[in-house]
Amino acid sequence: MDKSSPLPKSFKQDTNLCYFSKLCLYMLVICSTLLLLSQIQSLQQSRNLVFKYINLATQDPRSIAQKLRDSVTFLPLKDLRFANQPLDGHTWFMSSMNDTHEEGEVQHQYFPSQSSKGRLLCLKGRDTHDGSWNYYALAWPQALPSNATLMKGLTFVAYNHYNFENIWHGLSAVTPFVAWHRKNNCQTPARWVLYYQGELRFKMGTCLNTLTEATFGQAPYIEGFKDIEDDSRAVCFEKAVVMRHNEGGMSTERRLQVYDHVRCKARVYCNVSIERRANQDIGMTLLMRTGARSFRNHTAVIGIFEKECNKVKGCRLMVAYSNNLTVCEQVKLMSLTDILISPHGAQLTNMFLMDRNSSVMEFFPKGWLKVAGVGQYVYHWLASWSGMRHRGAWRDPDGENCPYSDDNSRCMSFYKNGLIRHNETQFAEWARNVLIDVKTKKSEEEASEQRLAPIDTCDCS
Ligand SMILES: *[C@@H]1O[C@H](CO)[C@@H](O)[C@H](O)[C@H]1NC(C)=O
Ligand SMILES: *[C@@H]1O[C@H](CO)[C@@H](O)[C@H](O)[C@H]1NC(C)=O
Ligand SMILES: *[C@@H]1O[C@H](CO)[C@@H](O)[C@H](O)[C@H]1NC(C)=O
Ligand SMILES: *[C@@H]1O[C@H](CO)[C@@H](O)[C@H](O)[C@H]1NC(C)=O
Ligand SMILES: *[C@@H]1O[C@H](CO)[C@@H](O)[C@H](O)[C@H]1NC(C)=O
Ligand SMILES: *[C@@H]1O[C@H](CO)[C@@H](O)[C@H](O)[C@H]1NC(C)=O
Ligand SMILES: *[C@@H]1O[C@H](CO)[C@@H](O)[C@H](O)[C@H]1NC(C)=O
Repeated sequence: MDKSSPLPKSFKQDTNLCYFSKLCLYMLVICSTLLLLSQIQSLQQSRNLVFKYINLATQDPRSIAQKLRDSVTFLPLKDLRFANQPLDGHTWFMSSMNDTHEEGEVQHQYFPSQSSKGRLLCLKGRDTHDGSWNYYALAWPQALPSNATLMKGLTFVAYNHYNFENIWHGLSAVTPFVAWHRKNNCQTPARWVLYYQGELRFKMGTCLNTLTEATFGQAPYIEGFKDIEDDSRAVCFEKAVVMRHNEGGMSTERRLQVYDHVRCKARVYCNVSIERRANQDIGMTLLMRTGARSFRNHTAVIGIFEKECNKVKGCRLMVAYSNNLTVCEQVKLMSLTDILISPHGAQLTNMFLMDRNSSVMEFFPKGWLKVAGVGQYVYHWLASWSGMRHRGAWRDPDGENCPYSDDNSRCMSFYKNGLIRHNETQFAEWARNVLIDVKTKKSEEEASEQRLAPIDTCDCS
């Protein structure tokens, strides 16, 4: 027994084990069955749910499209919540949208795109007095808002915080589109939609209009939404590019390319040579203003620069009035100018039409340093953006004092309209220094044959 005792013990153990495993098996089967039953039940429930949705989709796709159509929500173009920082970040124009920004490239929005999830840009309203009464929304092409008009082709939507009449402010709003156009195989827009602080505008200043025509190869068609009978109807765009940051985001190199491009196109349009002038002539141009910020004594100022120019071999003085030159006359004149002498004002925007590395001399009436803020540096900026040499500014120390001592905005208009005196000693010395420097640089460049190459190509990258 003792010998065999381990066997039955183990046998017993085995039967025990067997007994337990049988029990386990029963339990397991019962449990699994219960589980399976409950699973099937919930599976059926969710299957019902899925079927419900599929039914919805297959039975009535139009009702889904209709729901999407009805869910398109229009927001005011000008968002007054950001009135205290209208130009920062997402700005107060289409404030719910972020720009696309690649390093060094212009900040912009493109519709439809991945970031718009394939949706198109739609606009509504024709208000010309308050931008918060014009609206924008995004919509899928299959579910545009009811009664919306779809405009085919490419649309440029330009935001301007100032205006489209003044060439400086207008060009600032147009140059980002030039950057986009260059980067996208010279694609040209079928139309422009112009917004000043969210209010519609229907024209550009003459000069801007001509430069835009020259650059894009066709006169800009500015959308007036005249065919839309009812202001409550939306207009959606097959493709749209929105710019609201002017040159913002562009690298120095990009900016130079953009101004090179416009210069080149403007010269071609005006039948002016795009070759750099390969000789030792120096063109010195006095671009005069009349009225506000003109020189008080034109004859005297012309005399001073004429005298200095005559002392330098090859120097030619040209005197022009910006108000009575056509755009092409200005393009031509600038192509012959190495030194541009002019009071602070929109006519200085012409500087970018000179050959690269040309010089600018700027003049201010009394008072600007104090009241004009950063605005007084815009031509310094433009010079650096377009590859010119800003030779500094002369500020008239004399002139009438502002009678409204404590009111900056009224003083601004007062000084803005001031005339500019002259100081023969200072003007002559300044002109002499600039002339010598330009002459030296030209000789150096001539020696290294730098100036012999054509400066520009009008091609897109
Ligand atoms: C825009 O950018 C901000 C900050 O990066 C982010 O919080 C916001 O969700 C973005 N909005 C959209 C519509 O992408
Ligand atoms: C669409 O236009 C039709 C005809 O003008 C009009 O009857 C209908 O109410 C409009 N629908 C909407 C949603 O505006
Ligand atoms: C430029 O030249 C072409 C042909 O020679 C002429 O048709 C065109 O009118 C000219 N443009 C300007 C602005 O002078
Ligand atoms: C303008 O300057 C010229 C030359 O210096 C001088 O002869 C003339 O008297 C000045 N005219 C006025 C109105 O001051
Ligand atoms: C241009 O304007 C200036 C100043 O207004 C005037 O003296 C000049 O005669 C004008 N030239 C032409 C060609 O109209
Ligand atoms: C402009 O001047 C810089 C510095 O003198 C020179 O490196 C550059 O080549 C010049 N650019 C042109 C287009 O002449
Ligand atoms: C002109 O400038 C010179 C040199 O800075 C100065 O000595 C002279 O007083 C100034 N003349 C006038 C009339 O302001």
